[in-house]
Amino acid sequence: MDLQQEQQQWWARWQEGRIGFHLPEVNPLLIRHVHALATETHPNETSCILVPLCGKSKDLIWLQSYFHQVIGVELVPQAVKAFFEENQITPTHSLRDPFATYQHGNLALLQGDIFQMSSKHLEDQPIRTVFDRASLIALPNELRKNYVALLRSLVSPNTKLLLVTLAYEDGVISGPPHSVPENEIFDLFAFATNIELLEKQDILPESPNFQKAGLRWAYEAVYLITFP
Ligand SMILES: C[S@@+](CC[C@H](N)C(=O)[O-])C[C@H]1O[C@@H](n2cnc3c(N)ncnc32)[C@H](O)[C@@H]1O
Repeated sequence: MDLQQEQQQWWARWQEGRIGFHLPEVNPLLIRHVHALATETHPNETSCILVPLCGKSKDLIWLQSYFHQVIGVELVPQAVKAFFEENQITPTHSLRDPFATYQHGNLALLQGDIFQMSSKHLEDQPIRTVFDRASLIALPNELRKNYVALLRSLVSPNTKLLLVTLAYEDGVISGPPHSVPENEIFDLFAFATNIELLEKQDILPESPNFQKAGLRWAYEAVYLITFP
């Protein structure tokens, strides 16, 4: 599947309401581990968190009270529209070419393909923290390396990434979500100064779809990754 088809799939998913990944509440793993993202404060800089492939996640709202600036990036306009409507927010609209940008308070939501993003779209906001929940695992194998390289190009030294991933038995289902096991995480982030597994949880008991598909094991894992 090429990149264009890959992206069309996401448009179709949002249009058809196939968004089982969306949680009605703030992600409990974020609440539990947000403190791990605390970084040194840098004089004259505000703390800014990047939330790549953010969907219409409630996490964006919750993060607004923890960080001076929250920047979400989402491909599908319908997801962005739903986010603002469901949270009864009326944003202002501008263009950070090629991203349609929606701003409200300390939240900026950039609608477009994250692979088009460069540091100029951050408008001088240094990124020191990133929250990735189901973003890396939304991407097929051939894009995951590019995604990690992109993150690396966007963030400041010593950035901390809170990463929530999934791994499951090979060869039974095809993603997304894709299975990204621990050894792949260590390969992808081999350049990191630290990779810490914060939590690993068997999710088969609460995943009827995975059980129906015949998967014998599946777990969610949370990592704290420190960039050089
Ligand atoms: C599995 S969902 C996760 C959403 C969110 N992180 C959450 O926890 O609900 C992945 C999201 O990434 C978006 N997406 C896929 N490819 C993208 C790309 N190239 N650029 C930006 N967003 C993308 C999809 O539309 C989808 O909303």
